[in-house]
Amino acid sequence: MKILGIESSCDETAAAVVEDGVTVLSNVVASQIDEHRLYGGVVPEIASRRHAENISWVVKESLLKANVTLDDIDAVAVTYAPGLIGALLVGISFAKGLAIAADKPLIPVHHIAGHIAANYLTHPNLEPPYICLVISGGHSHIIKVCGYTKYQVIGKTRDDAAGECFDKTARALGFDYPGGKYIDEAAKHGDPDAFKFPKPRIADSEFDLSFSGLKTAVINTVHNAQQKGTQINRADIAASFQHVTAQTLCERTIAASEKTGIKKIAVAGGVSANSGVRGEFERVCAQKGYELFLPDMKYCGDNAAMIACQGYFDFLSGKRADSSLNGVATLSLDKISEN
Ligand code: KG4
Ligand code: ZN
Repeated sequence: MKILGIESSCDETAAAVVEDGVTVLSNVVASQIDEHRLYGGVVPEIASRRHAENISWVVKESLLKANVTLDDIDAVAVTYAPGLIGALLVGISFAKGLAIAADKPLIPVHHIAGHIAANYLTHPNLEPPYICLVISGGHSHIIKVCGYTKYQVIGKTRDDAAGECFDKTARALGFDYPGGKYIDEAAKHGDPDAFKFPKPRIADSEFDLSFSGLKTAVINTVHNAQQKGTQINRADIAASFQHVTAQTLCERTIAASEKTGIKKIAVAGGVSANSGVRGEFERVCAQKGYELFLPDMKYCGDNAAMIACQGYFDFLSGKRADSSLNGVATLSLDKISEN
C-alpha cells in the first residue's frame, strides 16, 4: 500500500511516498530556514506563505521521485496537529483537495506520532511496547508507546522544549538560528567539564523535564563574562551545556524505563540528531543491556516520510478524516491514543 505523506506544521514543506509503512520511495523537504534565520526564529505568517508557494511542487516532486502518479497512491496522510495553525492549514487544505479530487482516503496524523514513527523507517524490526523520548524544537516528551497508535505520555517539559533550550543557548553564544547543530559542532572541540551547569530537576515529578533554569544559567555565564570583558570559550560552554542536557534527558528516560519495566528505548525529533545525546544513550543503554533505537539522521528533523509511515499504522487502525478536517495548534498524544 502506497501512502503520500504531507507535512507543513512548522517551517519545512515536505512530501513523501512510503510503501507499506516502511519502504521510503521518495522524501522531499523544502526548508525555509534561511529566511527565518534573519529573524532569529520562525515567523508564522512567513511560514504559511512559503508553504503556499512550495506545496504544489514539493508534492509533485515526491510523486516523480517515487516514480508513481496520483493513481498509484492508496491514501493521503497529512499532519493536522500540533503546529502553527496557518502553516498546518496549507498542508491540510492541499491534502484534502488531492484526496477529494482523486477519491482517496484522507488520514489525519499527529506530528509527534510521526516523529516516533521515524524510528520504524530506520528500524523496521522495532515493535511496541517501548519508551520513546521525543525531543524537538517545540516538544520534549517521554512516552510509553503501547502500540502503533496507542500512547501514554509519562513525562513532559514544564517550560522550554529541549530544542528551544539548545536554540536559546546558541543565540546567547552568538550562533545562528536554529542553533542546535552549531552547539553540537562547537561541543566537539570543547571540554564538557569546564563549566558546572545545574542539572535540571523537578522536585515533585520523576519524569517531567525543565530546561529554563539550565538555559538561564548558561545565558548568565555568557553575560557575566561579557560584562567583565573576559574571553569566553564558546566550545567549552557548548560542551558543558550539551553534556548536562544529554545526561538529564537520558537519566529521565531510563527512570521511565525502569519504572515501567520496558527495557527498549527509542529517541526521536530534531534534537535526536545531537551527537552528545546519541552518545549518552548509546553508552548508558549498552551499560544496562537495554535495546536502543535512534532514527537515521535524515528522519530526525521534520519530514513527510515519518508522516506517511505513521499514516500507514493509523490507516490500519481505521483512522480517517473527511473534508471537515481542521488544524489543531495544541493536542496531547494522550487525547488521540486508542484505548
Ligand atoms: O523536530 P524538529 O525538526 O522540529 C520541531 O518539530 O520542532 O526540531 C527542530 C529542533 C531545533 O530546535 C534544532 O536546533 C534542533 O532540533 N536540532 C538540534 C540538532 N539538529 C537539530 N539540536 C541539537 N543538536 C543537533 N545536532
Ligand atoms: Zn517536528
